[in-house]
Amino acid sequence: MTDPIGFNPPARLLHWSMAALILAMLLIGVAMVTSLADYHALVALHRPLGLLILLLAVLRLANRWRCPPPPLPSDLPAWQRRAAHASHIMLYGLMLAMPLVGWAMLSAARYPVALAGPLVLPPILPQSPMLYAWLRELHTVLAYTLFGIILTHLGAALLHVLIRQDGVFASMAPWRSRRPATTRRADA
Ligand code: HEM
Ligand code: HEM
Repeated sequence: MTDPIGFNPPARLLHWSMAALILAMLLIGVAMVTSLADYHALVALHRPLGLLILLLAVLRLANRWRCPPPPLPSDLPAWQRRAAHASHIMLYGLMLAMPLVGWAMLSAARYPVALAGPLVLPPILPQSPMLYAWLRELHTVLAYTLFGIILTHLGAALLHVLIRQDGVFASMAPWRSRRPATTRRADA
């Protein structure tokens, strides 16, 4: 059932914890390829956090299916509505694709995908240097695409909270509003 005042608490908790994790992963990834000194420690952190993001993204989609998001304000121009939907689909797609590509590229290099202690994930692709090179490149391109979409998403969130003041931000805010986000109306 849709929460009348916005996204349900699990959706908000997952949104903000995953936002922090994803931003950390982008920074860790860049630090990893630019710092030789801390390379192994950073990769050891990057792998399990990335796979945690995959798990949380699946939980988040399951929660979204069980509890659909509130509708966008009815006075939102059609192109902004389409842009919002398209960017959310791309964000979900990249939250799933980034960890899978990371896992697949290490599999193609026959590099163990160690999580913690003795926990090692099985390879999901056969060994292939060509495939590794292609997926390694894809991982970089998708990471910077994700970063670009996050910046656009941040811009859109600021537009809603500072200019339109239409309750869209309140619907996903980490805190629960004491009164309903009255301006966020159902689709006409
Ligand atoms: C790594 C960073 C982030 C990611 C991956 C992300 C991802 C998403 C996704 C996928 C949705 C759609 C939720 C759904 O329909 O199920 C969403 C909604 C939303 N996000 Fe983010 N987000 C991030 C950061 C932020 C930040 C920094 C803000 C605000 C400052 C923000 C504000 C919002 C708001 C207000 C919504 C609700 C939009 C709506 O109702 O259509 N997000 N976010
Ligand atoms: C949301 C999840 C993830 C994000 C945002 C992310 C982000 C990044 C970024 C930004 C880089 C640096 C790219 C460059 O500048 O070339 C990188 C590199 C890398 N990532 Fe990820 N990554 C994620 C998941 C994973 C996972 C799950 C694995 C492995 C299981 C992984 C393994 C690697 C490896 C091995 C490198 C390259 C190290 C090197 O070339 O020396 N990543 N990642």
